[in-house]
Amino acid sequence: MDWVEGAVEVIDQTVLPGSVEVLRLTAVADMVAAVDRLAVRGAPALGVVGGFGVALAYREAAGDPARLEALLVDLERARPTAVNLARMVRRVAEFAPQGFDAVLGAALEVRDEEIAASRKMAARGADFVEKIAAARPLTVMTICNTGALAAVEGGTALAVAEELHKRDMLEEVVALETRPLLQGARLTAWELSQMGAPHRLIVDSAAASVLASGLVDVVLTGADRIAANADTANKIGTFGLALAAADAGVPFVVVAPESTIDLETATGASIPIEDRGAREVTSYPFAGTAPPETKAINPAFDVTRAELITAIVTERRVVDLSGGETPTGELDHEPSK
Ligand code: MRU
Repeated sequence: MDWVEGAVEVIDQTVLPGSVEVLRLTAVADMVAAVDRLAVRGAPALGVVGGFGVALAYREAAGDPARLEALLVDLERARPTAVNLARMVRRVAEFAPQGFDAVLGAALEVRDEEIAASRKMAARGADFVEKIAAARPLTVMTICNTGALAAVEGGTALAVAEELHKRDMLEEVVALETRPLLQGARLTAWELSQMGAPHRLIVDSAAASVLASGLVDVVLTGADRIAANADTANKIGTFGLALAAADAGVPFVVVAPESTIDLETATGASIPIEDRGAREVTSYPFAGTAPPETKAINPAFDVTRAELITAIVTERRVVDLSGGETPTGELDHEPSK
């Protein structure tokens, strides 16, 4: 993802793994549509694209503050659960009074910070996993897509798996396909094969029994928003995965940048959960997967209660939830587990 000659360029994630196509977004409406249909997705990537979106909005508003504000609202509401989007839109928008170059500079800074954060999360997360899991090499289970596509470069949970692979400590990644839009099958399996990391795909409903079988040493997931009490919103199915991991005695580790921690949201109960409508459930990947009149429930995310999470790894710290810590303070000491 980058700002190239006056436009935001992103890989169109909807056509992967069949083809790799780059979208050039030159207007806020195009960006909002791309975000809405998940052409660009994943919490850190949404923050970065939102920052670039402010540059588009500034140009489109042509000095009209009311128009700029309306465009910013369109951008920040494109997806409500990942806090990164609205947070970075508002952070970059603060530079509007200083002109376009300042806005674009702030957006590029957001991008660079997320890239740096990914690198640090990969190393810190791999160190942490080495510490808490005895098996060598390790089998990692993950859900949705948390690799470079979701975070510009590197990623979060998948970056940790990649780092374990580089350290020759990865047996395999067990990736959940992640219904309804199959981010695990389409994107994570693609990224894992790009990195040459061994992996197998499972249907989401196999996760509990695979965990119970003892195959998996650690579950690694990303996050869309982490509340002050560490309740964590992530892709639908993450909560069930955490319950199954707890039942099987497998550590459940969330890997996310500080930019995903929202201390203004006290608990998971206040996190807005995006409802994406029936069509993805009844008609994806093709029309007719269910009778056309079928109603559906399609929350895109769920909330995993803090008590089910072993630890949160960020670019700056490990928050040891199993040891009673919460994300509210800066912690530098080693986790107890
Ligand atoms: O609906 P998506 O594909 O945007 O959901 C993405 C996730 O749930 C990811 O796990 C999360 O954003 C973290 S990405 C590093």
